[in-house]
Amino acid sequence: MKLWNKGFEPDKLIEDFTVGADRELDLRLVRYDVQGSMAHIRMLESIGLLESSELPVLLEALERIAQSIERGEFVIEEGVEDVHSQVELMLTRELGDMGKKIHSGRSRNDQVLVDLKLFMRDEMKTVAKAVKRLFDRLQSLSNAHKDTLMPGYTHLQVAMPSSFGLWFGAYAESLVDDLEMVAAAYKIANQNPLGSAAGYGSSFPLDRTMTTRLLEFEDLHYNVVAAQMSRGKTERAAAYAIASVASTLGKFAMDVCLFMCQNYGFISFPDNLTTGSSIMPHKKNPDVFEIMRGKCNRLQAVPNEISLLTANLPLGYHRDLQLLKDIIFPATTTLCQCLDMCDFMLEHISIKENILDDERYNYLFTVEDVNRLTLSGVPFREAYKQVGMAVQRGEYTPTKEVHHTHEGSIGNLCNDKIAEKMNKVLVKFGF
Ligand code: ARG
Repeated sequence: MKLWNKGFEPDKLIEDFTVGADRELDLRLVRYDVQGSMAHIRMLESIGLLESSELPVLLEALERIAQSIERGEFVIEEGVEDVHSQVELMLTRELGDMGKKIHSGRSRNDQVLVDLKLFMRDEMKTVAKAVKRLFDRLQSLSNAHKDTLMPGYTHLQVAMPSSFGLWFGAYAESLVDDLEMVAAAYKIANQNPLGSAAGYGSSFPLDRTMTTRLLEFEDLHYNVVAAQMSRGKTERAAAYAIASVASTLGKFAMDVCLFMCQNYGFISFPDNLTTGSSIMPHKKNPDVFEIMRGKCNRLQAVPNEISLLTANLPLGYHRDLQLLKDIIFPATTTLCQCLDMCDFMLEHISIKENILDDERYNYLFTVEDVNRLTLSGVPFREAYKQVGMAVQRGEYTPTKEVHHTHEGSIGNLCNDKIAEKMNKVLVKFGF
């Protein structure tokens, strides 16, 4: 069944090629499609395009479809192009001409747009919740291990004292910036495109403000062409946000792999959370964090994929836009899986105490000793030289006393301030 049937059926090859993965991907849009249709028909009734008696009948039929989704029974049948066609088919099968009325003043172009806006809005909220869970985990690990020192590196060379508090806390604060990007993507998704129809509006006196209110959008995409052009733009904003979170998570996964390596040995996980080798009997590998790193690296290509897909499209609808779903749908799912997996692993992390007792880390303290001399009145450059020469002669012995007090340093992590920043971003999602 084609909504656009004009007395001929398209070639099967053409149908399969153009429908692509839509029958499966659109299943994620069904409840939003029903929600969009409910708002649309309420609005149609208010402007006289549906009888008052027809509205409750149609709403009940849509409600039954919504329930079939909840029960996992909704399917897009063979020969039906997409979710929009399937819902309309079910309504017309059940209600005849009444079902055929609901598409007045609407096109699948704005129908899919509204579905995607509602979907992306929810997806960004789901990402935000997963980010917050991991943020909380990192902050509590940071607080719990604030006094446990570890080496800090630059150029992967031993540099200055750091701490587990600083390490965990750094990734927590980094996630706050990422969440700002997610909040921006959420805001962009939170605008109503319904009523833009095929991309140029309608001669029916549609009440777009009413559907905006019914669907709880923050505002409208007013200009109907801009509304249509938001297809791709909404996904791109989400993709940047996803890539931003993924870059933080991927970097953290890399750190974990490094610190689990025997040459570092700073952290470990229970045996059953590691993986083995088919030949080397001793192996306890960090495959979880390697897969996480790989997935996060791939996620950082998503904005690029979206840019290339949409780069040379002029205004208006093009079928290319359908392929955005193939890119963005798995991306949000993968990101949330990685965030949840990281949180799960960190619940079981063990950290090594007294790492800095090992004399290979002695040089971590040179700056501390330079600063101590400086505080006792030796000019900084002179103090630097004295310690440097001692290192050079092989005579340097560290004091191993660390006294950092400024904001954000190992002695003063300011995790409470970082938590306040996080809360300021979270309110933007209206939880
Ligand atoms: N599956 C289509 C998409 O995602 C629905 C819109 C179809 N519109 C059209 N004019 N063929 O874009």
